[in-house]
Amino acid sequence: MIKAGIIGGSGYTGGELIRLLLHHPSATLDFVFSTTRAGTSISETHTDLLGTTTLKFTDKVNPDADVIFLCLGHGNSTQFLQDHSFSEKTRIIDLSNDFRLGKQNTLDKRSFVYGLPELRKEEICKAKNVANPGCFATAIQLALLPLAKAQMLNHEVHINATTGSTGAGVSLSNTTHYSWRENNMSHYKAFIHQHLDEINESLEHFQPQKGKLRFIPNRGNFTRGIWATAYTRFEGKQEEADALYKDYYKDEPFTHVSEKAISLKPVINSNNCHLNLLVHDGVLLIASAIDNLLKGASGQAVQNMNLMFGLPEGEGLHLKSSIF
Ligand SMILES: NC(=O)c1ccc[n+]([C@@H]2O[C@H](COP(=O)([O-])OP(=O)(O)OC[C@H]3O[C@@H](n4cnc5c(N)ncnc54)[C@H](OP(=O)(O)O)[C@@H]3O)[C@@H](O)[C@H]2O)c1
Repeated sequence: MIKAGIIGGSGYTGGELIRLLLHHPSATLDFVFSTTRAGTSISETHTDLLGTTTLKFTDKVNPDADVIFLCLGHGNSTQFLQDHSFSEKTRIIDLSNDFRLGKQNTLDKRSFVYGLPELRKEEICKAKNVANPGCFATAIQLALLPLAKAQMLNHEVHINATTGSTGAGVSLSNTTHYSWRENNMSHYKAFIHQHLDEINESLEHFQPQKGKLRFIPNRGNFTRGIWATAYTRFEGKQEEADALYKDYYKDEPFTHVSEKAISLKPVINSNNCHLNLLVHDGVLLIASAIDNLLKGASGQAVQNMNLMFGLPEGEGLHLKSSIF
């Protein structure tokens, strides 16, 4: 069994990892580190786990764990790794953006592979450390990678994506407060969202001279999920677009192309990404739906762990979506 540790266990992605790893057939939850809850029962914080685990949060790490998941805010992962040492065999999967970009993917002797299996599966299988992608970044890259690989991102791409409130983490803020969020909608960081850097880096891996991305992120009044649409000029026919995407994702267990219109709820509580394409009047519209906490974070982190340890890619990730 793989001995796994979680750092930042009281947060949303930490909680999702606890839920996934408690039921993973090849991993055991060795410790769950928390700066704010050490000594208390995990089920006091993650109340759905009452009766499932009697584990407590701890303020000690096991330096010999086989894998640790860092579920901390941006900048805190680097600090944590500077303050705590782990054995050379310990693999690290970081969910923050500290190590995602090529220019900042090393810390001391550790270098991190960008953990999007649909782009870097071979490298992830050999990696000691993985930088898990951002949630918007996952939904948008999965919507655009086949076009970049085919050198078809030759014009501006207009992207609009809406996230649920869990995308902003567990701490309360004005825009995650129920009174603000309920029955409300807004955009933020228009054209400058931080995930653009990793999205551009991945797309330019295939097509260095591509069209510019124009990205408008929105806050939705639901708790989980990302609904992204992107459109750009496209000279081909509907069948050609469908064939291009189906071919790119033909061996992928979690990314599926639907010929029928999609919606968000069928992917919630699953590690799936659903894609749908619509060609109209020289334009291709791509819709992409994921659960921000699963394919956008903790589910993808377990997918990466499976690949790094030579396990079946979907182990522990056969989840039931909550469609109703
Ligand atoms: N939420 C998403 O949909 C999503 C998706 C993809 C990636 N991510 C990324 O994943 C990371 C975690 O996100 P999250 O949504 O789980 O955040 P979160 O709910 O805010 O949880 C972060 C946890 O980090 C710990 N923490 C807070 N401040 C800290 C500090 N100064 N030093 C050390 N630990 C600190 C706390 O846990 P303890 O008190 O238990 O230590 C806190 O609960 C972030 O980098 C985020 O950008 C999030």
